[in-house]
Amino acid sequence: MPIYERSGQRPYPSGVTIRLPTACVVVLVGPSGSGKSTWAESQFRPEQVVSSDRLRALVGEGPHDQKAGKDAFQVLDLVLERRVSRRLLTVVDTLGLDAARRTAYLRLARQHGMACHAVLFDTPAALCRERNRARDRPVPAKVLAEQIRAHGNTRAALAGEGFDAVHDAGPVVVVPAAMLAAPAAASRQEDHPMSLRFGLQVPSFTWAGDLRDGLAALAVDAEEAGFSSLWVMDHMLQIPQVGREWDPMLDSYTTLGFLAAVTKTCRLGALVTGVTYRNPAHLAKIVATLDVLSGGRVVCGLGAAWFEREHRVYGWDFPTRRDRLDLLEDALRLLPLMWGPGSPPFEGHRVRIPEAICYPRPVQARIPILVGGQGERRTLRLVAQYADACNLFGGPDTVRHKLGVLARHCAAASRALDDIEVTHLSTVLCAPDRSSLRDRTEAARAPGTTPEAFAESVNAGTVDDHIGRFRELAEAGVHTAIVSLADLATASAVADFAPVITAFRS
Ligand code: CTP
Ligand code: MG
Repeated sequence: MPIYERSGQRPYPSGVTIRLPTACVVVLVGPSGSGKSTWAESQFRPEQVVSSDRLRALVGEGPHDQKAGKDAFQVLDLVLERRVSRRLLTVVDTLGLDAARRTAYLRLARQHGMACHAVLFDTPAALCRERNRARDRPVPAKVLAEQIRAHGNTRAALAGEGFDAVHDAGPVVVVPAAMLAAPAAASRQEDHPMSLRFGLQVPSFTWAGDLRDGLAALAVDAEEAGFSSLWVMDHMLQIPQVGREWDPMLDSYTTLGFLAAVTKTCRLGALVTGVTYRNPAHLAKIVATLDVLSGGRVVCGLGAAWFEREHRVYGWDFPTRRDRLDLLEDALRLLPLMWGPGSPPFEGHRVRIPEAICYPRPVQARIPILVGGQGERRTLRLVAQYADACNLFGGPDTVRHKLGVLARHCAAASRALDDIEVTHLSTVLCAPDRSSLRDRTEAARAPGTTPEAFAESVNAGTVDDHIGRFRELAEAGVHTAIVSLADLATASAVADFAPVITAFRS
């Protein structure tokens, strides 16, 4: 880091790491020569820094062209507004000593739902003066003295202006919003551990080498790492959220049969089986078979299906949402009949089965049924009425809200909320430390997205970040966190996540 060498001393008195969320406006505050631009250059990419001096050079005769100030600030305001409207992380490199300007930046950030942090440069006045004197075009001594005087009051002023945080200059880490409070949550987990189970979702099969060998190795590694369940999607074509239509997409239940043979302890399921793809009696037969052949390790994931295109290409009907939810309800009622004693008839909204026959019976007395989706009116009601587990997504606040809704449906159905296993699905990119995380993010990042947007979309974080994030989800009521690893094709991806699982072992 050249700045450390140049000054020959600790450049920032605090040296405390600054955590910033990916969608953030950073307002620098300090007199001329306090080191704002040098800090910004060392911590951010050039395009993330909007500097009044650089804009003076662009619209005027140089970085210190005082006559170009008005124009430079007009351009700065425009650039900032356009970047913030795209939620791009932006550093405002001006003196920051003008309270009206600072609060305008803060308001703009708020308008676009972005965080806004201030960073203070409390460089000793003598050092600012010395640096100023050494410059080609020093700021007049009187002007600098006035800045230094004004800066003396800014810390107190900033405290009341409403910034998310005011930091002393120091090294920066940019983290997904969900990980901003991770250090505190991770230390809660260390002091008073909560238990949380982990599942691994395998949503794609695109890796170097043989598909079958790779899948077997992945399953064995996952079990070894402590994952207690393995999940595949139930899709005929790769879904646009994950990959391309011509990427390999294995059939769900055939794949689960294979996984049953190569694993020993983990539970197996489709996250989630679309009710539209199979006659539900046939689905019961498939799931019962898997339960027998896996030694009683199946979870039956069920959902209303959503991917219209694959229905079209496979020649299936794609009923309305309401009809699909009716079909889901039919399946939820029929499956236990199929797996239970006798051969009762069944008549649902859309399904009529004269005799619910299925031998052999499953190994498990009751195959747990997990319903995917968090629709508040119908899906969560179906969970309360019929299911053993739900599958949620989103942050802790969303989870708390959805569990509140589920609790009301449970009360109406005379069901205990505690009966229902709360699972949660999210994408994760995990690395042992910051620098390998940066490399992983770069390797996995989709072209055309910024590192920040990508990090946000895959929850990129170190092991500690993830421990903190999952702690918050556990506190919100999650029992099982199912993760999809964004870098699944990387040989060490599963093992790198193992320390997170270990931190939640009871
Ligand atoms: N500098 C340094 N060590 C630091 C920070 C800055 O030696 N830790 C030097 C820089 O190399 C530069 C001078 O101090 O020559 C001023 O730093 P700069 O970052 O340009 O200060 P700013 O606060 O950006 O000043 P201005 O408001 O005038 O742009
Ligand atoms: Mg500067």
